[in-house]
Amino acid sequence: MGKVLRINILLVFILFFFTLVCSSVRGTVSYDDKAFVIDGKRRILISGSIHYPRSTPEMWPDLIKKAKHGGLDVIQTYVFWNGHEPSPGKYNFVGRYDLVKFIKLVKQAGLYVHLRIGPYVCAEWNFGGIPVWLKYVPGMEFRTDNKPFKAAMKTFVAKIVDMMKSEILFEPQGGPIIMLQIENEYGPVEYEIGAPGKAYTAWTANMAVGLNTGVPWIMCKQEDVPANIIDTCNGFYCENFKPKNPKNPKMWTEVWTGWYTKFGGPVPSRPAEDLAFSIARFIQNNGSFFNYYMYHGGTNFDRTSGLFVATSYDYDAPIDEYGLLNQPKWQHLTDLHKAIKQCEPALVSSYPTVTSLGKNQEAHVFSPNSGGCVAFLSNYDHKYSVRVNFQNLPYNLPPWSVSILPDCKTVVYNTAIIGTKASGAKMEPSSGGFSWQSFNEEIPSTAESDKLAANELWEQINVTRDSSDYLWYMTEVNIVPNEGFLKTGKSPVLTVKSAGHALSVFVNGQLSGIVHGRLKNPKVTYSGNVKLQAGINKISLLSYAVGLPNIGVHFEKWNAGVLGPVTLRGLNSGTIELTKQRWSYLIGLKGQAKSLQTDKGRSSVKWVKGSLLAQKQPLIWYKTTFNAPRGNDPVAIDMSSMGKGEIWVNGQSIGRHWSGYIAKGSCNPCNYAGTYNENKCQTDCGQPSQRWYHIPRSWLKASGNQLVVFEEWGGDPTKISLVTRTA
Ligand SMILES: *[C@@H]1O[C@H](CO)[C@@H](O)[C@H](O)[C@H]1NC(C)=O
Ligand SMILES: *[C@@H]1O[C@H](CO)[C@@H](O)[C@H](O)[C@H]1NC(C)=O
Repeated sequence: MGKVLRINILLVFILFFFTLVCSSVRGTVSYDDKAFVIDGKRRILISGSIHYPRSTPEMWPDLIKKAKHGGLDVIQTYVFWNGHEPSPGKYNFVGRYDLVKFIKLVKQAGLYVHLRIGPYVCAEWNFGGIPVWLKYVPGMEFRTDNKPFKAAMKTFVAKIVDMMKSEILFEPQGGPIIMLQIENEYGPVEYEIGAPGKAYTAWTANMAVGLNTGVPWIMCKQEDVPANIIDTCNGFYCENFKPKNPKNPKMWTEVWTGWYTKFGGPVPSRPAEDLAFSIARFIQNNGSFFNYYMYHGGTNFDRTSGLFVATSYDYDAPIDEYGLLNQPKWQHLTDLHKAIKQCEPALVSSYPTVTSLGKNQEAHVFSPNSGGCVAFLSNYDHKYSVRVNFQNLPYNLPPWSVSILPDCKTVVYNTAIIGTKASGAKMEPSSGGFSWQSFNEEIPSTAESDKLAANELWEQINVTRDSSDYLWYMTEVNIVPNEGFLKTGKSPVLTVKSAGHALSVFVNGQLSGIVHGRLKNPKVTYSGNVKLQAGINKISLLSYAVGLPNIGVHFEKWNAGVLGPVTLRGLNSGTIELTKQRWSYLIGLKGQAKSLQTDKGRSSVKWVKGSLLAQKQPLIWYKTTFNAPRGNDPVAIDMSSMGKGEIWVNGQSIGRHWSGYIAKGSCNPCNYAGTYNENKCQTDCGQPSQRWYHIPRSWLKASGNQLVVFEEWGGDPTKISLVTRTA
């Protein structure tokens, strides 16, 4: 009896002790200098960015599934403040902005989440993710030691954290979120603005940590992080990055898988071999977390793209814009992940010993006390294959590559050897020759609208608050009958200086010219002869914003619109200034005010067709209906016959089209070997920067889909066609 009791007590004691130990590690996330530690276990974490508003909720499960099959442990996303709070205190968490649903889907797939709350996110996203209305709060200055900004930022960040807590989404609660991010690439800004930047960083870190989420916060591109935050690297290569605090793990938050396309630029791509090489180099140098930016880039639907950023955000990511595998990249990285995971136990429990194998060759060997041996054999030479000897065996290393040997003997992977074929994904013609109808957007003039008027030129975003891309600036010029040019026929020259981003000039309802800026210089100047007649002449300037800036010190202070001077040269009195005369303003288009993208709006105006169909004319609305292409392949619309504008399908904006902007740049043959930069492997020079625009399947019905196009420049709608993307 006594013996049994003693054994029982012992058992209970052991059990109790066991639960104590377990519960102290279960549901915890911490880190040390080697790696993130989840539930007591050090991990090599492979992560990929999928931004939820850049696809549809119907696409999310498949994207997440493909990420899991690709060997990812973590999905990383920004949180898009301006999508979630379109006006102060009015929140939006539905549809593409259903953040909680997205995170729960990631959890269901058994993956973790890295949530980058920002709330400044850059991301080539309109205004870097910050709501435009915030700029107009009195005393506001973004991203510095500024009371109104800090108050608004704290309110939003706390709201997101509370939402995640109440939905039980943090890892210690049993949820998938294992790490967070506050701010974004703030280091370079702080470097420029100095003391207020430093104060802001310290405040930011304290604010974030004070929210007690139970999971670590990181700050990327931020050298002076406080002790309780991890600083991380973003870039094409990060093998030489060292966290400021030697007790922090070496993390790479943005492995750039390619680059974004800007309107007017060629389409960038990054070779899979170089991408894999950069990651292998990071891992062999103590790296333990890396995140593909992007794993699925997706689409900048609606007007969500940043200044001059294209609607496609494909990014040459392992999953393409349409949700298809981008081969051979996806498979090559999947194979890399398998090789890394084979090495994980050694990687997380030892530091590498580095030895030279030749002039440009090295071995990085991990041999933990617990046994095992892992080697990375690297050849940094970008021209030559090299035969090296490692532990008395010969190995052939292709140029610019790393071989991975999970047992220090067998090469299971080399970053330069691709075992998969290209997917051959392409656009297949589906249907076209639609029967179009058109509606002419009226050219407004002063007489019709002087609700908004002043004897000065106004900054555009101040007036539109970004409710539309468009702002009309209208004025009148009285030409007296004795003006000399009326007899000589030598038309006066109108010069209009605009802060950007594009401008159409109309005189007496007729187009005089169109000018536009570019990403490097959004400012534009129009200068041209204009047809004026005796009497009152109506000058109507249509100024367009093409996305708001998303990066740069105080990007919120950049102006847009016609700020002048506006002059008229070649009159009897020489040159006259129109800058300070009466200007009236009209926000947006009449077609927008009538909501022509909706069924009700479309029925409120008179459309014409057949021989009356407007073609190659500026400011035209077009509509047609179409049947969805058969099958399940993703759908796109070929806009190569059009200029610039916006497209709606069944009332949803699929984004700005600007196929009239031909890509300039260098498109040289691409060699994977050698240091990569975003200008290295570009395609489509001399072609539209973006010809095809994604129409998500879930926005389509089998038949009777309503397609509306607003064309600013003039195009031929009869050549618009649908394509499907096939792999
Ligand atoms: C890995 O980390 C250890 C400990 O911080 C350091 O001594 C070593 O130099 C690092 N090795 C490499 C290749 O970065
Ligand atoms: C901003 O717009 C308002 C009218 O909406 C105007 O009174 C003000 O002068 C404008 N400011 C600038 C800088 O354009």
